[in-house]
Amino acid sequence: MAVRVFHRVRGLREALAPARAMGRPIGLVPTMGALHRGHGSLISCSAEDQRPERGLTVVSIFVNPIQFDDRSDLDAYPQTPDSDLRLCGEAGADFVFAPSAREMYPDGFSTFVDAEGECLTKMCGAARPGHFRGVLTVVSKLFHIAQPTRAYFGEKDAQQLFAIKKMARDLDMDIQVIGRPTVREADGLALSSRNSRLSARERAAARCLVRALGEGRAIIEGNQEASADSAKKSMAAAIEAEALARLDYAEILDADTFGDVTRDTRKALLAVAAYFGETRLIDNMSADVCFREGSDGSR
Ligand code: PAJ
Repeated sequence: MAVRVFHRVRGLREALAPARAMGRPIGLVPTMGALHRGHGSLISCSAEDQRPERGLTVVSIFVNPIQFDDRSDLDAYPQTPDSDLRLCGEAGADFVFAPSAREMYPDGFSTFVDAEGECLTKMCGAARPGHFRGVLTVVSKLFHIAQPTRAYFGEKDAQQLFAIKKMARDLDMDIQVIGRPTVREADGLALSSRNSRLSARERAAARCLVRALGEGRAIIEGNQEASADSAKKSMAAAIEAEALARLDYAEILDADTFGDVTRDTRKALLAVAAYFGETRLIDNMSADVCFREGSDGSR
């Protein structure tokens, strides 16, 4: 069946009402469009999850202006509406919700969702002031509009996924927030809508991100005496060695708490961000941490 497209909150709500009344699950996949196989994997996962109970999958496509701290990044954000619709249909979406900025933020809009604490103060939270406030505000609006049973997000944006899971927990949202693995190109580069903005030379240079993460992971997993600091330095060096890359951050933290790596850390999250020309890319990987009995735990 063809995908049905809605531009208004009311239209989407009316279309979802019958399924909701019959107790069928609704899966939501929030996106900003310029869809690629990474988004496709979230959509097909939702379609599969809802299928047994004859539920629906809604994909939202909205370039959310309030999560951009940089106006030129917003202006340059790629838009590919025709191929987006095709991909949604092929991946098994039922509805696409593509509102205007005015529909989402009418005149007088003044209520925001913000979070405090570690998930906001480091990495992208530090590098992009107001970003997570914009993300959490739009995602909570989308949650209220679609009232999904399950919502799907990529692990590629690990800090975003952490913040959204936390928001759902903190604000008692009765929605299962599901994280899905990062889909990569053959050479390891994580798929991103922003990759289309890279020149051929920048695209080649961007491989340093996954190389840096691999080196960091090898240190964490291979050498039990190594500190998170030395792995962090090695990741930063791998990016700085690439002439076309400008390092934003190289971080290692506890994947469960998003706090510092401690003696109790079992899984570490290695995360990097760098600019290639004007384009900022992020990526991450997790690594198992196993401490040697009796090691001093100073990581
Ligand atoms: P966007 O960058 O379009 O990403 C939409 C979803 O796709 C996010 O959950 C993201 O983590 C996931 N995704 C992106 N690249 C991926 C990849 N290579 N593999 C798997 N999943 C991937 O993230 C946003 O939009 C926005 O912040 C949003 C949550 C929609 C709020 O505006």
